[in-house]
Amino acid sequence: MSQSLFERLGGNEGITAIANDVIDNHLVNQTVSNRFAESDVAGLKNAAATFFITGTGGKNVYKGKDMLAAHKGMNISASEFMAVLDDALAALEKNNIGQREQEEVLYVLYSMRSQIVRV
Ligand code: HEM
Repeated sequence: MSQSLFERLGGNEGITAIANDVIDNHLVNQTVSNRFAESDVAGLKNAAATFFITGTGGKNVYKGKDMLAAHKGMNISASEFMAVLDDALAALEKNNIGQREQEEVLYVLYSMRSQIVRV
């Protein structure tokens, strides 16, 4: 277990592919797609990829807001939060990420719940 999560997810390239799939999943997930109707999709994909690269042990490339500031006032529900986790899990599966890494990613995402739901 000497490699960082960043490396085990395939580095910049692997994480960018996963992040793109997460956003594509959001856009067709009926529980959350409305939230992203006005979004600049390329910008959102870049934010998702850089956030995850930085958060898993890659370079410090994320320039966006912290999770509380990014989601404050949106009144995001628990089911919307679950839907986003579902989309992340599906993207990890699609990119053939192993179970151990899937568990680690889900844990990291879940731990942000209190900064995102009903804030
Ligand atoms: C652990 C779960 C989540 C993570 C890691 C996450 C991450 C992010 C990041 C990195 C940004 C970009 C912030 C910036 O550019 O400054 C963002 C924006 C956003 N998030 Fe989340 N998010 C999560 C859950 C959710 C949920 C559950 C919803 C609602 C369904 C949501 C809706 C949004 C919206 C609407 C934006 C703004 C999009 C835009 O600028 O067009 N997020 N999120």
